[in-house]
Amino acid sequence: MTRRILVLHGPNLNLLGEREPDVYGATTLAEIDDALATLGDTLGAAVDCRQSNHEGQLLDWIHDARGHFEGLLFNPGAYTHTSLALADALAAVAPALPCVEVHLSNIHAREPIRATSLTAPRCVGIVGGFGAASYTLGLRALVDYLNAP
Ligand code: DQA
Repeated sequence: MTRRILVLHGPNLNLLGEREPDVYGATTLAEIDDALATLGDTLGAAVDCRQSNHEGQLLDWIHDARGHFEGLLFNPGAYTHTSLALADALAAVAPALPCVEVHLSNIHAREPIRATSLTAPRCVGIVGGFGAASYTLGLRALVDYLNAP
């Protein structure tokens, strides 16, 4: 059975590769999406990867994912720390659409404001601190979660 996974990247993640490489690494978003598609092939998961700098667009994609996808892999970027609306959207689509939150950086090892995630309590799990590998680890975790009896 092929799992349908929606991958959402939030604000500023389109600039990966050139954005603060000391924090976020040199891997571009296109390279991350390619790695997820390749891993998805081996895991039996079809990934649809999207990025937006706009909270409303991310909300619409989460709402519209109902009935079309089985899971969400989501890096909300800075909205992690500010967006009650995105947290509410994740709660609204759960449990039919379980979400794994991912971060390139370890948000608990940075400025105190980044240690709070409004979205994480609405997710089945979080992966962070492993650079681009956070995404592939997160995809493995999400597919394992979906395949669990
Ligand atoms: C991030 C961490 C956030 O605090 C930051 O605003 C980002 C990226 C990460 O992937 O490490 O944009 O979500």
